[in-house]
Amino acid sequence: MDVVVAEKLTKEFNGRAAVRGIDFAVRARECFGFLGPNGAGKTTTVNMICCFSPVTSGRLTVLGMDVRKHPRQIKSRLGVVPQENNLDPDLKVLQNLLVYAGYFRLPAADARPRAMELLEFFDLADRAGERVDRLSGGMKRRLTIARALINNPEVVVLDEPTTGLDPQARHLVWQRLRRLKERGVTLLLTTHYLEEASQLCDRLVIMDQGEILEEGDPRGLVSRHIGREVVEVGLPGGYAQIANTPCAGQPEGRFGTGVPGKDDRPEQRGVTLPDFGGPDPAGGGTGKVDPPEPAGTALYRLKEYGPPGSLPGTAEWGIEPENGIKMILHRVDSLIRGHLVVGDNIFLFPRDSGQAVLQALQSLPVPFAHLLLRPATLEDVFLKLTGRGLDG
Ligand SMILES: Nc1ncnc2c1ncn2[C@@H]1O[C@H](COP(=O)(O)OP(=O)(O)OP(=O)(O)O)[C@@H](O)[C@H]1O
Ligand SMILES: [Mg+2]
Repeated sequence: MDVVVAEKLTKEFNGRAAVRGIDFAVRARECFGFLGPNGAGKTTTVNMICCFSPVTSGRLTVLGMDVRKHPRQIKSRLGVVPQENNLDPDLKVLQNLLVYAGYFRLPAADARPRAMELLEFFDLADRAGERVDRLSGGMKRRLTIARALINNPEVVVLDEPTTGLDPQARHLVWQRLRRLKERGVTLLLTTHYLEEASQLCDRLVIMDQGEILEEGDPRGLVSRHIGREVVEVGLPGGYAQIANTPCAGQPEGRFGTGVPGKDDRPEQRGVTLPDFGGPDPAGGGTGKVDPPEPAGTALYRLKEYGPPGSLPGTAEWGIEPENGIKMILHRVDSLIRGHLVVGDNIFLFPRDSGQAVLQALQSLPVPFAHLLLRPATLEDVFLKLTGRGLDG
C-alpha cells in the first residue's frame, strides 16, 4: 500500500500558490526525498502531510486516511522532525522526551525506558539531565529526531534533518535513519544535501517553484540526465561573468537539455563556428554566414566585451574571447550529450568517454583554470533541472 498519496495537491498562501497541483506516492518502507532550492515548496508539502497546514485543493491521504478528515489519527502514527527545532529550552533533555510522550498518552512506565533507549540510539544518553539550551546545535537536532520517534511511528517525516550538523554527526544520523528503515519505518525527508539524498533515498522528487520537475531513484536520475561522468572545465577569470548568462533558445537560468540529439549545440543556437580542427558535427564548421544573434544571449554579450585582450588573462593567448567558449563547445560537440555553465565552470556531459573529452580539450590553445574528470552526481541533475544551486 502507498503510505502517502498526493493528487493535484495545491497550497496557496493569500492567493499565491506555494505548491502547484503536484502528484506523488510514497511506498511503504521506502525512504522518499523532496529536493529543491529555497522556496521550492518542500516544507509546505510536508506540513500538509503532517496535518499542520490545511490543503487548499487536491487530494492527500496518509496511511490511507484523508488529511482533512482524520488529522488526529494520522498525527498519532507519524513522527515529525520540523525544519526548525522546537524543543523546550527550559526543560532537560529527558524531560523533553517525556513531555512529548505525554501528548501521545504513553504510560509513564513505558515512556521513561523508551526515552532512554532513544537517547542511547542518538548518542545523547549522557546528556539526559542537561538543560536543552546547553546543548550544541547538532545535539539539539539529534534530540529533535529522537523525540519524533517516541510514539513508535510508522512514518517519520524529516524536514532537513541534518542541516547544521558536522559531517560526523550527519553520518551518525544517516546510520540511524537507515536502521529505522530496516525496521520497516517509512521515511520522508527534505534535504539540501544531495549526498544525503543519494545515500538514503530510494526515490525522490526534485521540486522547484511549487512543481515537481522530476521523479526517480537517485542513480536512474543521474544516468538519465547526465550519464556516468562529468568533465569540469574551469574557465579563466574574465570568462565567468560572460559564461554565466543564458544562451539563446534556453529559458532563463536553465541550461542544457541532456537529451541526445536535442542538446544545446552551438549550431542549434544559430551560431556558426570557426573551424578549430575539432570533430565536425553535421551542420557545424566553417562556410556559413552568422545569423543575427538575439540581444541578451551569451554570445551577443560576449561581443560587447570589445576587442581581443579586453578581458583579463586573454591578451596573451591572442584568441578573441568570444571564441573561447564557442571553441570549447565546438571541439567536444560530438563527444558530449549536453553541457551546463555553472559560475566559472563549464560542466560537459560525455556521451561515452570522459577521457576522450579531456583529450580533445587538452589539444586546445586555451589556458584552462582546471580540467577535471569526475563521476556524475545528483548535484549535476539538480543544477541542470533547476538552473541553480541548492541555496537558491
Ligand atoms: N506561512 C506562509 N505564509 C505565506 N507564504 C508562505 C508561508 N509558508 C511558506 N510560504 C511561501 O511558500 C513558498 C514555499 O516555501 P517553503 O517553506 O515550502 O519552501 P522550502 O522548499 O521548504 O524552502 P527552504 O529550502 O528554504 O526550506 C515560499 O515562496 C514561501 O515564501
Ligand atoms: Mg523548508
